[in-house]
Amino acid sequence: MTDDGYALRVAREQNFYTGERPANSLPPIFSYWAARYVAPHLHEIFGTTEVEQFFANEIVRTSGKSQNVSVLSLGSGEASTEIDICKRIAALGKTATFYCTDISRGMNEAAERNSEAAGVSDNFNFIECDINTDFPDCPAEVVIANHSLHHFVELEQIFASVKKQIGRDGAFIVNDMIGRNGHMRWPEVLEFTKALWNLLPPEKRVDRMNGIEHNEFIDWDCADGTFEGIRAQDIMPLLVEIFEFERFFGFGGIADTFVDRMYGHNFSPDSPWDCGFIDVAELTNSALLKNGELKPTAMFATMRLAKFEDEKFWPLSAKEAVRVP
Ligand SMILES: C[S@@+](CC[C@H](N)C(=O)[O-])C[C@H]1O[C@@H](n2cnc3c(N)ncnc32)[C@H](O)[C@@H]1O
Repeated sequence: MTDDGYALRVAREQNFYTGERPANSLPPIFSYWAARYVAPHLHEIFGTTEVEQFFANEIVRTSGKSQNVSVLSLGSGEASTEIDICKRIAALGKTATFYCTDISRGMNEAAERNSEAAGVSDNFNFIECDINTDFPDCPAEVVIANHSLHHFVELEQIFASVKKQIGRDGAFIVNDMIGRNGHMRWPEVLEFTKALWNLLPPEKRVDRMNGIEHNEFIDWDCADGTFEGIRAQDIMPLLVEIFEFERFFGFGGIADTFVDRMYGHNFSPDSPWDCGFIDVAELTNSALLKNGELKPTAMFATMRLAKFEDEKFWPLSAKEAVRVP
């Protein structure tokens, strides 16, 4: 990537992430799919069906006897996730100090306002930085990333810094996208996606982000000129080289297209046909994930430099979940 190409992507990222919570724009059918197919396995591995509680549980579990735990969050956005996690850690009997980082001034300013409104600003530090070049200097022993790794370019450098940061006793706790670059489909997933797409009536083929109806399925490269999924496919191969996975839950693939922002708003959780369609997509995906024919496009994981507890995973171990390009 040229310097100009990088600078343009940074400008686009900062213009796109101006203070809104990204999860707010997900369609209702995403919640149907997540509640039915993601939540049960999240509970099995991490003891909760909620993303914020997953982070709180894992931070508390991996911080041992420390009463106050320091947490560095990479690409924390407007930090409503971290604020919620902070309160949940308090409910679990510990206190937390957060170091939140983001490249976007709008996100950092919103984060600061949000922490004040929630009455937890004393627990928070906000750092405006580019994680690709300026990994912050802070005393955190736990590092978290919620849907941000797939925006980063210098993964080798970042993961080496995380390794140094967490040391022997800390943890790296992640919820992120790990599929093909640009969130494109691997050929083996594209085949199923197209077969399902061909069953859809025209009104369900409308790209709701751009207001255009598509006849043929277009496998968009979301990283074209942006950081969206820029090196998503490199995340797992690099992580398994550096870290031990104590907990791993991999999911996603065929259903992604139909529950995400572009086409997901064409489906309703109140429609039996729509839910049936999503069920077929997901049940096919789960069966193929279990026997290793497909690899997951998303994960929840807790990584350490050494395993302190027995590994727990579903449906594949982290090493088995790597998709070699
Ligand atoms: C998909 S959003 C996730 C935000 C937040 N973690 C959440 O879950 O709501 C990705 C975030 O990463 C930030 N980001 C992207 N590239 C970055 C970089 N190089 N350094 C720091 N933050 C970055 C973006 O500004 C954006 O807020």
